[in-house]
Amino acid sequence: MIRMGMIGCGSMAASHATTFRPLDGRMRFTAFADIELERAEAQAKHASGAIAVADYHDVLDHVDAVVIALPHDLHYPVGAECLRAGKHVLMEKPLALNRAQCHALVEMDRSPDPVLMVGYVMRHEPLWTELGEAIRTKRFGEVFHVSIWTEQYTDDSRGKWLGQAARLGGGQLFSHGCHYIDLLLHWLGEPVSGTHVGTNLCTPWMEREGTSNVSLKFASGATAYHFGTWGARGSRLRYSVHAHTEQGMLELDFADGTLTLYRDRSGSDLPALQALAGPGETVESANRVVIARRSGAATKPVVAQMAAFLDCIEQRKTPEISAAQSMRSLEVIWRLYEAEEAGVVADLRGV
Ligand SMILES: NC(=O)c1ccc[n+]([C@@H]2O[C@H](COP(=O)([O-])OP(=O)(O)OC[C@H]3O[C@@H](n4cnc5c(N)ncnc54)[C@H](O)[C@@H]3O)[C@@H](O)[C@H]2O)c1
Repeated sequence: MIRMGMIGCGSMAASHATTFRPLDGRMRFTAFADIELERAEAQAKHASGAIAVADYHDVLDHVDAVVIALPHDLHYPVGAECLRAGKHVLMEKPLALNRAQCHALVEMDRSPDPVLMVGYVMRHEPLWTELGEAIRTKRFGEVFHVSIWTEQYTDDSRGKWLGQAARLGGGQLFSHGCHYIDLLLHWLGEPVSGTHVGTNLCTPWMEREGTSNVSLKFASGATAYHFGTWGARGSRLRYSVHAHTEQGMLELDFADGTLTLYRDRSGSDLPALQALAGPGETVESANRVVIARRSGAATKPVVAQMAAFLDCIEQRKTPEISAAQSMRSLEVIWRLYEAEEAGVVADLRGV
């Protein structure tokens, strides 16, 4: 039974103690730390026998592993200390604040002894995974373009570290967009070039961009676009993905929980839409079919992520998203930021 600690009990940690019940036989929370003690205490209430402390050093004697869910400027110092103490670490994305701190953690990484895994929870979301596998395996033929939209409103972070570039490591793209740059690299392979234009217009709580537009080109010839905003006062797309393939356009509508194939042209070279319908789905329109739908029974992504972390510890495996691996998407973002500042297209070869 792995003794787990949680360092940082803010929005990420909310209700974690109860969320992880499905992993009861494999781990138990034994310690919670937050500089605002009452936040640690609120979590500890749900985990019998767990301690709550304000100083994270005080968890180290009570745990085998920790989840670090802290402001980004604390990822490196706290992560390094936990690794030095021999604790397995699940670091909430991004790995750390900047290149130097990330490289230092990569240098320290001795996974699986102890494990250092970076938490990119969208990698564990079933519909996103299904779409990603369809793209990676060319299930609907070659994929020539993917667009991802994420539209949120975050003015409740006014005055908090999330708006401060020096604590966040950048703006919306670095903090939230890193999930989607990570997915685009995972789905489409080697990036070759790209651009970023961002603005903090209408998100004055952000020192750097609150709204971000990224265009990427990949070695396969495929292109990708990512629009992310923390300033959406309303939204229709919310979290959506469009992937254009040789056999039609795949749409992930995350709010609706559906993955749909759209096809306007017909032809004997294309499989009939009926053949592509997901389990229990029928073709109700001549130009589209639902190929997958969110299942209420599916494991929650944070639980699947924690299970992957436990697998690494128990089976002495290197995590799929290791410290070094997680730096690829961050390196893309740093090069995009630098190119934006210089007014040029970013060279992304070799990331
Ligand atoms: N995977 C996701 O989908 C997702 C979503 C949100 C946030 N995150 C990540 O989780 C991490 C935390 O984000 P959040 O939104 O929970 O932030 P938050 O501000 O809500 O929580 C951070 C917590 O850390 C505590 N803290 C600050 N300094 C501390 C210290 N020295 N010692 C102990 N505790 C300290 C704060 O009091 C606060 O409770 C970040 O890395 C963020 O990017 C991930």
